[in-house]
Amino acid sequence: MTQVPTVTLSDGATIPQLAFGTWQVPDAEVTPAVLHALQTGYRHIDTAAIYGNEAGVGRAIAQGGVRREELYVTTKLWNDVHAKADVRRGIESSLEKLGLDHVDLYLIHWPSTVKHGDAYIEAWDALQEFKAEGLATSIGVSNFHAHHLDAISGEVPVVNQVEVHPTFAQVPLRTLCAERGITVESWSPLGSGADLGNPELAAVASELGRSVAQVIIRWHLQHGLIVLPKSVTPARIEENFSVFDFELDADTMARIDALDAGNRVGADPDTATF
Ligand code: A2P
Repeated sequence: MTQVPTVTLSDGATIPQLAFGTWQVPDAEVTPAVLHALQTGYRHIDTAAIYGNEAGVGRAIAQGGVRREELYVTTKLWNDVHAKADVRRGIESSLEKLGLDHVDLYLIHWPSTVKHGDAYIEAWDALQEFKAEGLATSIGVSNFHAHHLDAISGEVPVVNQVEVHPTFAQVPLRTLCAERGITVESWSPLGSGADLGNPELAAVASELGRSVAQVIIRWHLQHGLIVLPKSVTPARIEENFSVFDFELDADTMARIDALDAGNRVGADPDTATF
């Protein structure tokens, strides 16, 4: 079976670099998709309370026959339970739905400052307690700009999961995270599909005899990013995992780096109203 490379986080834990993303996969569809991913060899599953599919992910984990110690499971705290009185309900509900006594990585999903002000700062204090209690092995954040990272105190998050793909490369934020020992995880790594039609990426893919998705996933891996492609299509789930038998050379990496065009496809954390 293919061994997925791992990255060592700043707290010493190791994380598989390629994950199976489940955003926008309804609960009814997520169990067969995750089961197929586990059969293919994925060992890192990324979900979130707001995806509404933690129970289905939990069913796949229970049925999948992969030992818990070999699995890496990430979930995320939703924005409406940042306050001190509510935050514990967030992780308890996720663990119950997943059928787990701990997750490997627990993230604050969004700072949600427009709707909930500075409550994410309290939420970060709570995540540190959850880690101390063993409910989460590692803790991190998602969709944090530099100023959100500056506002929290105590432990430095091990991960910042943000939108990254070739036409939205987030170089300044990636550089800042690297300086602080924060590993960046790329959500919508294919641009939610938008980068798949890029002509330069199509040219690279055809030169290498690979698919555009595979080229993009290699670009993330070779930049040291944790990459979470999402698909409900069995052949694509396999295709996105078949990326460990080729490499992009430095010139090709530079060609893809040059595609950065500030093409954000998701919400900006500073203006998101949810
Ligand atoms: P589907 O789930 O219907 O297979 P991202 O991971 O950037 O959010 O992108 C997910 C989107 O890209 C989904 O619409 C998914 O479609 C599609 N997708 C995922 N993998 C591939 C692939 N290898 N080839 C083409 N489209 C893909």
